[in-house]
Amino acid sequence: VKHLLGIKYLKKEDIELIFKTADHFKEVINRPIKKVPSLRDITIANLFFENSTRTRLSFELAEKRLSADVINFSAASSSVKKGETLIDTVNNILSMKVDMVVMRHPNPGAGIFLSKHVNASIVNAGDGAHEHPTQALLDSYSIRERLGEVAGKKVVIVGDILHSRVALSNIFALKLQGAEVKVCGPKTLIPKHIESLGVGVETNLKAALEWCDVANMLRVQNERMDISYFPSTREYVKQFGLNLPLLESLKKEIVIMHPGPINRGVEITSDVADSDHAIILDQVQNGVAVRMAVIYLLAAKIQQ
Ligand code: CP
Repeated sequence: VKHLLGIKYLKKEDIELIFKTADHFKEVINRPIKKVPSLRDITIANLFFENSTRTRLSFELAEKRLSADVINFSAASSSVKKGETLIDTVNNILSMKVDMVVMRHPNPGAGIFLSKHVNASIVNAGDGAHEHPTQALLDSYSIRERLGEVAGKKVVIVGDILHSRVALSNIFALKLQGAEVKVCGPKTLIPKHIESLGVGVETNLKAALEWCDVANMLRVQNERMDISYFPSTREYVKQFGLNLPLLESLKKEIVIMHPGPINRGVEITSDVADSDHAIILDQVQNGVAVRMAVIYLLAAKIQQ
């Protein structure tokens, strides 16, 4: 397989190999010299058709720490604005001898479509409300780092499940590794047939938090929100917002995660986000090592 299009296409052993490789790169990037020469013969284009801070910078850093040549493309400042198609755009970039494309796109399935039409390795950096595979990998890697393993852990994903590629990729990744998964949020933001993925549904946040070892607090995706789906922000905060008194009322310690960017005071308050309960910046830090592992393993397929 020369693409990473979604967690749906991975096996448990693939995730184990990615994590083992990421362990090595995590050790590398903690050295005074954070680079390895592994990918000196590989050129990677980062194509972002949608805004990003963490994913974009993390991929770029991962590629540079592997010594790949890197070019960055932002749709907002490109000839896409003059009407150039996705396939024309990518084929023009590939004609400059590019080997791998990392792409974020607002349309679900954009990476799958591209992989069928161009001759390059494609990494999905988030496609609409479909999948965000490297986010799920870094999330599971961070759970493994904090709790020792993912298997057997109880993870609740809280909030806007309906519009969340992070939720879907996390469900696939966590189930594959043997975690128990529940989703929690307003009924209007939970997909109708989510149980068919083997996850439980809880609409009471306190009950969900009492049950879990890990709570992944998703961002409310206002940019994808149809107003008819959504309770008011005040209602959302009251029913599904995580604050310190609620966290401290639990009878146990739980790990708090958030993929970022945070709507502070909506899905999570600052005193929780910035507390020792949260591993939010560990997730970001681990993203570089995990993305190094993904790119390194895919590049090995290209080089074969
Ligand atoms: N978590 C995540 O995908 O963040 P960005 O949108 O900033 O990349």
